[in-house]
Amino acid sequence: MKRIAVLASGRGSNFQAIIERVSDKTIPAEIVCLITDNPSAYAIERASAHNIPVSVVSFSDYADRESYNKALEHAMRACDADLFVLAGYMRLLKPETVRAFAGKMINIHPALLPSFSGLHAQQQALDYGVKIAGCTVHFVDEGMDTGPIILQYPVVVMNDDTEDSLAARIMEFEHRALPEAVKLFCEDRLEISGRKVIVHDAQA
Ligand code: GRF
Repeated sequence: MKRIAVLASGRGSNFQAIIERVSDKTIPAEIVCLITDNPSAYAIERASAHNIPVSVVSFSDYADRESYNKALEHAMRACDADLFVLAGYMRLLKPETVRAFAGKMINIHPALLPSFSGLHAQQQALDYGVKIAGCTVHFVDEGMDTGPIILQYPVVVMNDDTEDSLAARIMEFEHRALPEAVKLFCEDRLEISGRKVIVHDAQA
């Protein structure tokens, strides 16, 4: 059974979606830790409710980015995880960290990449006037939201959408997409081939 570590900075609703699919055994894995940079993240309550160990690595506790990053990497290694899931983790990881966990780290982004990377993706989509928005789960590489794509879900944009209404509809699909990608990883069905991710069929 695979060992999953989740990194989250805030509310943790995507983390919760993974907890539920692990609890009902849809995902064949164990969640071994939550790592957060935010000591008041609601994700911590969610972890505690399910006896998941929490490691808080708060940026303000460190003198500079270098020492923060060392502490973060230390916390990640201590999890001894097969997969690290960035579920609303709001800090960019340093290239060394990304390289150290290459092929073992995935992220959820609330847009159809490569459009609208970075912050406020839903507002970017509205401002641009696209008719189809959505969400993407991808492997993490050294760029921002640029790694090989595992899966994407489309969401239709309505005339009267606001950032909040669109974000809420995309979120419903995030809560399906992220657990689905985690499940595929845990079933050893993902193969990275250059920029592409090949999704293999389930074993009969
Ligand atoms: C999600 O929209 C995710 O796509 C983005 O940050 C948000 C986190 O939400 N990266 P939550 O903390 O999982 O509720």
